[in-house]
Amino acid sequence: MNLMEHKEECSRCSQDENRVVYAALLGLGTVGTGVYRVLKNQEAEMTQKLGAQVVLKRILVRNLEKAAKKVEDPSVLTNCWEDIRDDEEISIVIEVMGGIEPAMTYIQESLQAGKHVVSANKDLIAVHGKELFETAEAHHTDFLFEAAVAGGIPIIRPLKQCLAGNHMAEVMGIVNGTTNFILTRMTQEGMEFADALKLASELGYAEADPSADIEGLDAGRKVAILASVAFNSRVVLDDVYIEGITKITSSDIRYAREMGCDIKLLGVARNTETGIEAYVSPMLIPSSHPLASVNDSYNAVFVQGDAVESAMFFGRGAGELPTASAVVGDVFDIVRNILANCCGRIGCTCYKQLPVKKMGEVCSRFFLRFQVEDRCGVLARMTSIFAKYDVSVVQIVQKESKKAGQAEVVVITSGVREDDMNRAVAELEKAEAVLAVSGILRVYGE
Ligand code: HSE
Repeated sequence: MNLMEHKEECSRCSQDENRVVYAALLGLGTVGTGVYRVLKNQEAEMTQKLGAQVVLKRILVRNLEKAAKKVEDPSVLTNCWEDIRDDEEISIVIEVMGGIEPAMTYIQESLQAGKHVVSANKDLIAVHGKELFETAEAHHTDFLFEAAVAGGIPIIRPLKQCLAGNHMAEVMGIVNGTTNFILTRMTQEGMEFADALKLASELGYAEADPSADIEGLDAGRKVAILASVAFNSRVVLDDVYIEGITKITSSDIRYAREMGCDIKLLGVARNTETGIEAYVSPMLIPSSHPLASVNDSYNAVFVQGDAVESAMFFGRGAGELPTASAVVGDVFDIVRNILANCCGRIGCTCYKQLPVKKMGEVCSRFFLRFQVEDRCGVLARMTSIFAKYDVSVVQIVQKESKKAGQAEVVVITSGVREDDMNRAVAELEKAEAVLAVSGILRVYGE
């Protein structure tokens, strides 16, 4: 058979115009509306692309009247979960309602009923991922969640598939758009945190209750998921040390810039010989690092593997259509699996049980600022305390203070155990000539 004949043969067998895969959508908020729109935008070429048409047979909403304004055919709307669970024609359930319950029950019941599930629910997966994967495996169903980390940026599938030939050493990045927007405004316009947060709310970047973003919890959930996938070992939200950006001031950012660095809220997951390190923290990062130029509400994930070396994934980490892009990509993947009769092909990839370190055992570099009395012997006293706790100083600079008789001392350390650093700082705080510890920030890098 020549190439032309082969192509004709293939198109004859794959283009069954009538092949339909029915799906249900749980939630018609921002992401749900995006999924509805993206599926509509794809309608005309879906059969050619996938070999089947995905039809949203049901959409589960709380308020039928409000939802009716958002869809062409309100008869697909229901507020009754059983309408979806008990419909044997529906083979894919798309969960974009968020939160733990009832999402957990709906996903479990879908998988148990043999339905495949796509979820964007990081809150749930970062805590109950293991149970969900076990149910999916037991019922030979797909459970895909690309949208749960960094919205529209492909990172779960690349880690599980394209980069599967690596042992990953590190996955880190900017995985929260709200805080990146705030830090960018503080850096570029010298705004203080409260004003930048207010602007983020006015422009619709920050949620009505922004605490999960600014306190680092949202990023922490994503780090738990990323670490689990990258290192093939389960990491849950409770394993992740979390610090947000509420204490960062514009003067911290000014100092960082003087040192050739920017401050970013980084989610870091590292696979070390002694265990996994997983944390979220505002950190100094050299302005020359590719992540330092990821600004506004953009996200980026930087990975390091033993074969690929470094790779960076950049894009929109949230928003209606970017998040829907990831959700619909998962839906299409499942449709292809259904047609090829190979569902459950890539399930849970956590086949190791690596320990996760407590933050006190993690080695970090630090940037510290002290207000001290400006007199002989103060620096010597400080360095002796550092030495006592095994803290190696890389740079120490004394700066003038606006207050007479006082000076500001800026210190950068090499990598030290966090517990040692905490003990050193506690003793420095009590040292006679030290008036205040005015800033402590981690520095990214070796
Ligand atoms: N609120 C998140 C952010 C998006 O600001 O990036 C959803 O996780």
